[in-house]
Amino acid sequence: MMQALAFPIPLVCPSCRAAALQSDGITIRCAACESEFRITEGFVDLILGERFTDDSDETCQCYEEVSNAHTVEHYWIPLFKRLFADLGRRPRILAVGCGTGVEVDKLHEAGFDAVGIEIGDRTRSWPRRQARDWLMLANGMHMPFADDSFDAVFCGCVFPHLGVVGDSFVVTERYREDRLAMAREMVRVARPGGHIVTSSPNRHFPFDIFHGREPGSYRPRVNWPGSHFLLSVSDYRTMLRDAGCDRVAAEPADGYWGFVRSKHSLKGLLLGAPVRLLFWLTSLEPMRFLRGSVLAPWLVVHATKPGA
Ligand SMILES: C[S@@+](CC[C@H](N)C(=O)[O-])C[C@H]1O[C@@H](n2cnc3c(N)ncnc32)[C@H](O)[C@@H]1O
Ligand SMILES: [Zn+2]
Repeated sequence: MMQALAFPIPLVCPSCRAAALQSDGITIRCAACESEFRITEGFVDLILGERFTDDSDETCQCYEEVSNAHTVEHYWIPLFKRLFADLGRRPRILAVGCGTGVEVDKLHEAGFDAVGIEIGDRTRSWPRRQARDWLMLANGMHMPFADDSFDAVFCGCVFPHLGVVGDSFVVTERYREDRLAMAREMVRVARPGGHIVTSSPNRHFPFDIFHGREPGSYRPRVNWPGSHFLLSVSDYRTMLRDAGCDRVAAEPADGYWGFVRSKHSLKGLLLGAPVRLLFWLTSLEPMRFLRGSVLAPWLVVHATKPGA
């Protein structure tokens, strides 16, 4: 028998945005536009469009869980605690492209009502998550939430993976439109005065030390000028302003990465030292003008939705 679809926060149909989703535990149906979705391996699956198939295997996912746990504990949680110190209730946060879902677990432990959406194969790790009821398969470009639902919406390295051919570094002709579509959705579902925060490697840094490295190798991918796989601060600024944000600024990135693999070997420590130095340097307040420059390996860009 069809009943109202159960989820910790209200959902809408990603196709017509009516609050009319019903489920019999196997399929999900929109009573307004008759779109059909499903429950996939116990998780609400409201993906509109294609699933994302990525190269991550089990070893890679375990490493990502450890590395993501560091980032949430040392970066996202302190940032959100600062932003919502005076809110007076549990902040509601959306993690877009939450991967293995570790960021959602950790945010719950720290006192946030966090929802995670994901479209790719990292959902294989979800049965291990404590806050699994708050995880859902959905496309960041067509979100199943009403307008103004979240105090903050964030994504850790998701924009470069939109508008690319498969899980590659080659952009399609539609890369700008696809990225803008997701930015618009992030702004739509944030409340007026809410925060939109996004991170990824910097397009202007000569190397991409985070993508395309073989496990155990320290040789970084060269970031060719002219490639639009990565974004720069000005790419983010243009996109987020077009999506309706007012203030857009680069945040300090120090603490984002724990260098969890390289810090266990002398070679890794030595080769990683200049990169760690640049994270530290570009995060200093008097050096903020360097944050989008060729010296900044990583970007965290923070925007606000006008109003309230
Ligand atoms: C590099 S991973 C980052 C995972 C996690 N946020 C982190 O910081 O470790 C990028 C994730 O974005 C997801 N993704 C790509 N396109 C998406 C879309 N349209 N909607 C939701 N997630 C998407 C991918 O499946 C992948 O898991
Ligand atoms: Zn509908």
